[in-house]
Amino acid sequence: MTEQTSPDTIYKGLDGVVADYTAISKVNPESNSLLYRGYPVQQLAAQLSFEEVALLLWTGELPSQAEKEEFIALERAHRALDSRVKSAIDLLPLDAHPMDVARTAVSVLGANHPQSGDSSPEVELRKAQELFAAFPAVVAYDQRRRRKQELVEPREDLDYSQNFLWMTFGEEAPEEVVDAFRVSMVLYAEHSFNASTFTARVVTSTLADLHSGVTAAIGALKGPLHGGANEAVMHTFEEIGIDKDETREEAAARAKAWMEEALAEKRKVMGFGHRVYKSGDSRVPTMKQALDAMVKYYGRDELMGLYDGLEAAMAEAKNILPNLDYPAGPTYHLMGFDTEMFTPLFIAARITGWTAHIQEQRADNSLIRPLSAYNGPDERHL
Ligand code: CMC
Repeated sequence: MTEQTSPDTIYKGLDGVVADYTAISKVNPESNSLLYRGYPVQQLAAQLSFEEVALLLWTGELPSQAEKEEFIALERAHRALDSRVKSAIDLLPLDAHPMDVARTAVSVLGANHPQSGDSSPEVELRKAQELFAAFPAVVAYDQRRRRKQELVEPREDLDYSQNFLWMTFGEEAPEEVVDAFRVSMVLYAEHSFNASTFTARVVTSTLADLHSGVTAAIGALKGPLHGGANEAVMHTFEEIGIDKDETREEAAARAKAWMEEALAEKRKVMGFGHRVYKSGDSRVPTMKQALDAMVKYYGRDELMGLYDGLEAAMAEAKNILPNLDYPAGPTYHLMGFDTEMFTPLFIAARITGWTAHIQEQRADNSLIRPLSAYNGPDERHL
């Protein structure tokens, strides 16, 4: 087929196109299930640390005790904010979107990497692990600088999730909060050929380096049809109005009315719907449990009123169900993250999946270069 012929079918948005094999995760919309390297994500979220899940995604197997310890030592050694990254962030305005800050930070890390030109499997895995370790400090510092707070140095006695919250808020987070955060990281880690992961694979297919792939993936994740939806969910809640003194029922009634009006105006409501899942996102029940735990911990029942009201009205009107971003948004809000920080949190998690896919793409590469059907003017002459 050439680019000049009229094809029988155009797969707009590559909808339904199987682009390659992957052994990293399996999304099954029929059974609403998601497996990472064969393991149900719910089991991983219930039983493993995020560090263990990251190793599983990268290597294909659960780590031995020695492998785990080795990685934990590496992760703790690379947590501090690189001074060159800090300088670059300090040059960016306080009203720059945190996703732009995150994208810039990853680019700076890539440009300064001593082995930037080496994409051998061993070096690439190490780059992935170092990036995993270094990225939380970017999010934590960016939120703090916007609040006119000082940088908080990492602590080596804390695990990944505990330390992330420590660096962001400057105090040790309670166990309940750490656990909900860890669950969100595990659920956000990987989801087959979604837009940002496919972007990372496209970039890798040109034989570009890992940091270029991740930087491009961050760009794709920023959009509200993808990762930006978790932030947009909170904007919806804010638009409806959060009133801590309201009962759950009162909040639900207002949310329902808001949704009916939004749908009548043909608005797209972020946090609902999915390209692959049509009868429910496999990750939502587990994330909803984490949200319930946060609502209970912070005593914010009225927020669940908004949550339930929107969900019920959407189901009734259009039979469209929530995706992972729907429970994740209010969970991060309750933890104290600024709304614009939610999608950078998604990056922190998805760095694992993206870099596992970068390695998989590189191991059996073919340049990703589809065709297009030309529908411009016929040949003409000056
Ligand atoms: N609100 C209102 N209507 C919707 C929504 C929504 N969230 N999602 C789908 N629809 C409607 C849409 O208007 C269309 O209706 P009609 O056929 O009458 O024009 C129909 O459902 C099909 O929608 P589509 O956008 O063509 O379907 P898609 O498979 O391309 O969309 C989607 C998938 C995720 C882009 C879409 O559901 C959407 O825009 N959702 C909101 C954004 C969002 O929450 N994204 C996060 C996705 S999951 C986590 C992640 O990857 O970050």
